[in-house]
Amino acid sequence: MDPADAIALLGGPIGTGPQRWADLGCGTGTFTRALAHRLPAGSTIHAMDRDPQALRALPARAHGVDIRPLLGDLVRDPWPWPPLDGMLWANVLHFVPDRPALLQRAATHLQPDGQWIVVEYDTDVPRPPWVPYPLGFEALVTLAAGAGFTQAERLGERPSVFGHARIYAVRLRRG
Ligand SMILES: C[S@@+](CC[C@H](N)C(=O)[O-])C[C@H]1O[C@@H](n2cnc3c(N)ncnc32)[C@H](O)[C@@H]1O
Repeated sequence: MDPADAIALLGGPIGTGPQRWADLGCGTGTFTRALAHRLPAGSTIHAMDRDPQALRALPARAHGVDIRPLLGDLVRDPWPWPPLDGMLWANVLHFVPDRPALLQRAATHLQPDGQWIVVEYDTDVPRPPWVPYPLGFEALVTLAAGAGFTQAERLGERPSVFGHARIYAVRLRRG
């Protein structure tokens, strides 16, 4: 995705003081950089992926935000961070079959007022191998509510490479 589109998809500025976030399944960092653009300077992003080559493409710092790579599997490995102000999962949930377990885990790693931003294709039709376990907007909102994230704010959407399926970003918070 074009960097400007990624920034736009995340909505406006996030928070007023330095924040600690994690970007799970960060890849080469398109959304890590976009998130850095939206966070206050002095913030930290822990960027996790199981692909070491992708992690090497991450900058150490962007827009005054520290980016700390972590090689690991987001399903199997520990998340060794203190409770976070926020998490970003961009284009990664559709690779995880057991979403309820992952959502429950995410809830325990966020501050009570923490926010969780998800970027996904707005479709429930699988397209393996690219989107094996899709999670359209309505399905995600229902799933998230089951983990206590009852507030959902759709931040934006863009056309996607998958025809009619648009790509959306949503901010989830506990009620
Ligand atoms: C489609 S890419 C998205 C990358 C980035 N978030 C973006 O939107 O540009 C999916 C990324 O998730 C990573 N990924 C998928 N399953 C993972 C897992 N179980 N643990 C860690 N990383 C995973 C892949 O290595 C890949 O870099």
